[in-house]
Amino acid sequence: MREYPDDPEAADVRSLLETLYELAGADFRAYAYSSVKRRMLVQVGRENTGTIAGLEKLVRHDPATRDRLITTLTIHVTAMFRDPAFYRALREELVPMARTYPFIRLWVAGCSTGEEVYSLAILLQEEGLYSRCRIYATDLNERVVQKARHGIFPLSAMQEYTRNYQRAGGTRSFAEYYTADSEFAILRPALRENVVFAVHNLVGDASFNEFHAIFCRNVMIYFNRSLQDRVHGLLYDSLMTYGYLGLGRSETIRFTPHAADYEEVSAREKLFRKIR
Ligand SMILES: C[S@@+](CC[C@H](N)C(=O)[O-])C[C@H]1O[C@@H](n2cnc3c(N)ncnc32)[C@H](O)[C@@H]1O
Repeated sequence: MREYPDDPEAADVRSLLETLYELAGADFRAYAYSSVKRRMLVQVGRENTGTIAGLEKLVRHDPATRDRLITTLTIHVTAMFRDPAFYRALREELVPMARTYPFIRLWVAGCSTGEEVYSLAILLQEEGLYSRCRIYATDLNERVVQKARHGIFPLSAMQEYTRNYQRAGGTRSFAEYYTADSEFAILRPALRENVVFAVHNLVGDASFNEFHAIFCRNVMIYFNRSLQDRVHGLLYDSLMTYGYLGLGRSETIRFTPHAADYEEVSAREKLFRKIR
């Protein structure tokens, strides 16, 4: 973990991270320091402990506080068809390649509550590919994986998601993909027919298959450099040659040990192809 030597709270931050690892097996020790500390301070406010050291005391004795802190440290912000142009790039680049295979495996690593997974399922269905796909959707956090399995999202988000869907090249009525009650949009169960949801920790868990495409978007921004390099190794090992890697808008393969192993398919959309 990168630390600022002049930060008087660095020792407390590290001590709390060690405690979380020791008591809950949750390993945030190689996450980006400034973001970890900021999230801890949010939790100090919520739990009213005054200091990070005070929060650690509580965490040591109260498993519920521990779980709440873990949830705060893992940031779950996501959206359907987030960065719509990314999905247009998939239609142009990934889809033609996928058509040449009888069966394709995709991995959404760090899938949060599943919005990205259902977006992919919709895109693949519209391209006539979904029946020969299997999407593995994983996240560190069991609670969000459980939510993702249900595919139920606030109705209030649907306006934004409809706009994203259209910008992503969708031409149908987005409302076809869900039924609504007064509060929630319930996505069509057929969309998760070929999805396997599972808990998987990118820090420490091994590769579990070889994929035609891997999406790990807006996950590694929370990791420090050495952890990013390690996770890129795992993704590289899990991707077949000529397979696609999709990262988040502010992430890149450049400056990692695997930079030369990929070609840039879309620099703007952070879509890469493994070439060796
Ligand atoms: C900001 S969300 C991104 C969700 C989605 N990929 C997107 O781009 O909209 C980051 C997700 O990464 C997950 N995550 C964080 N650390 C992880 C790890 N070590 N292994 C697997 N998932 C992790 C978090 O639980 C969270 O759900």
